[in-house]
Amino acid sequence: MGKKLKTNSIFRGDCKDIMKQLPKESVDLIYIDPPFFSNRIHEIIWGNGYELKAFEDRWKGGIMNYIDWLKERVEPSYDVLKETGSLFLHCDWRADYKIRNYILDDIFGSEKFLNEIIWKYSVGGRSPKYFPRKHNTIFWYAKGKTWTFNKDAVSIPRKTGYESFGGRIIEEDGKKYQIKVAKSGKEYKYRLDKGKTPEDVWEIQSIQSQSKERLGYPTQKPELLLERIIKAASNEKDVVFDPMCGGGTTPAVAYNLNRKFIGIDVSPIACQVTKKRLEDIGAPITVYNMPTTVKELKEMDPYKFQDWVVERYSGRVNTKKSGDKGIDGYTNDGVPMQVKRSYGVGRNVVDNFETAIRRKRKKKGVIVGFSFTETKGGAYEEVKRAKLEEGLEIKLVTVKELLNKFLNNDFE
Ligand SMILES: C[S@@+](CC[C@H](N)C(=O)[O-])C[C@H]1O[C@@H](n2cnc3c(N)ncnc32)[C@H](O)[C@@H]1O
Repeated sequence: MGKKLKTNSIFRGDCKDIMKQLPKESVDLIYIDPPFFSNRIHEIIWGNGYELKAFEDRWKGGIMNYIDWLKERVEPSYDVLKETGSLFLHCDWRADYKIRNYILDDIFGSEKFLNEIIWKYSVGGRSPKYFPRKHNTIFWYAKGKTWTFNKDAVSIPRKTGYESFGGRIIEEDGKKYQIKVAKSGKEYKYRLDKGKTPEDVWEIQSIQSQSKERLGYPTQKPELLLERIIKAASNEKDVVFDPMCGGGTTPAVAYNLNRKFIGIDVSPIACQVTKKRLEDIGAPITVYNMPTTVKELKEMDPYKFQDWVVERYSGRVNTKKSGDKGIDGYTNDGVPMQVKRSYGVGRNVVDNFETAIRRKRKKKGVIVGFSFTETKGGAYEEVKRAKLEEGLEIKLVTVKELLNKFLNNDFE
């Protein structure tokens, strides 16, 4: 993926892994709306293997397992954030008290807390046993000592008359003011035509069944909510990043507000929905890391195929033309790799690869191919011999195995 930030991009994958490949201190604003700590099956939005696995991972234990799971994903986001950037984390009553304490205070420091925003809405069911739970909590934290807060960009109309605080209204130089008299007798003047900064309780309608922006999944957030966050906490041309972007609300609003965007989602369907949403509003967008099939891989251009394989190991392609003959790349731990775009990869390939890794004084290696010869004197037998007689550990990995690991998000 390289270390240059690819903006206006969506990456398919677990944000924990993808973020580690993004350049440090490269984004201005992060909004994270993770799956809530809920075992309700409707929390499964996209219904594919990736999301089911992510759902199961969070449910292997109780709430602290969820907190650990989320913390592992907020931590790398801190590294990606610029020193002048800030992060909004969207959660609800099930885990908000623990998220602030164990995740945000711990990673950012409690002194970097800016707001606990209450997003109040009123749709959905109501319990007859207690007050309806009709708000979500959005925590806002800064990374450094300064951050963006464009309060005028999000100002809302000031209520007038007794509805607000009962002062008399006057006009001076064509401008309207409301006068409040303090107990001391001192008069305070408030401009009425300028609007005011919204407080930390936001009443914004959730997505309605007739909403134009409605895509049809339950956790979609309203654009107005993201609009307020993005306008307030970033400037035009800034990079806005959502590591669990779902159907693309954050990227879409960021693009409409003339910001650059980056999104990640573990679900290929979510990435597809985001791609379509962004294309529909004319945004340039590239989606990386979408899964593929063995057939597509067989037909792929050889260099692209090699890249695809090496990327699965978060490795690097060998760019040296000589000296490293027989080595196509290295895994992220520096293990040499050879990539073969053929079936029935035989003993001769393993032999040559052994020579290449011996030359590099390495003891381990990986060969990836569509299949390997299993007959007597074939590739598998040579691997066994090399282990027994020379202590060389060579793994033969088929493209199908690699693809399955990729589909299950299960990497070494
Ligand atoms: C609550 S939804 C986000 C909804 C989004 N804000 C919107 O308005 O469409 C949470 C998303 O997190 C994704 N997700 C779950 N685990 C993930 C992970 N480990 N990495 C990246 N995305 C993940 C899910 O696929 C889901 O799309």
